[in-house]
Amino acid sequence: MKKQWIPAVGKMTYGIYVLTTHYDNEINGMIASWVSQVSYDPPLVMVAVHPNRYSHRLIEQGGCFALHALGKTQQDFLSRFKGPDPADKFADISWERGKTGCPIIKECVAYLDCRVKTIIRPGNHTIFIGEIIDARLLSDEETFSTIDYSGIYLGKA
Ligand SMILES: Cc1cc2nc3c(=O)[nH]c(=O)nc-3n(C[C@H](O)[C@H](O)[C@H](O)COP(=O)(O)O)c2cc1C
Repeated sequence: MKKQWIPAVGKMTYGIYVLTTHYDNEINGMIASWVSQVSYDPPLVMVAVHPNRYSHRLIEQGGCFALHALGKTQQDFLSRFKGPDPADKFADISWERGKTGCPIIKECVAYLDCRVKTIIRPGNHTIFIGEIIDARLLSDEETFSTIDYSGIYLGKA
């Protein structure tokens, strides 16, 4: 199939999350939108991460990730979690280690702290399926999603 699927897939709607992860003393955070719940019992969520991401290595080695749902007023997190330096990403925001050891940012609508249960490599992204070990709803603000975002994450590289 030619690339006609690209604009069609671009109309799919996703939440926009901050994913955090760690391996030993290394921590990182990145923006992720290819995220979904995949089971109620046990509670499982998946995130698709490109192998080029620094976070990819940390998730594989540390075996955990945390997802943070953002509020509509938190779109500045997009630029905060874009750069290469984890120290800049976590500067001046309060965070603490969650049950898995992943950084948990309390300034969010909700977080899910997950331990990786299954890894699938169906294409150019790796699917990490994690079991929710801990979770909290922290705010009733409406969540930030691709409806509020003018760009498209194509996932090409
Ligand atoms: C709206 C948006 C959604 C994104 N979704 C994903 C995603 O689901 N998976 C992914 O691998 N990268 C995604 N990215 C790209 C990563 O956030 C970006 O490459 C980041 O710099 C990776 O950080 P790291 O290399 O420090 O781990 C997204 C970017 C944006 C702006």
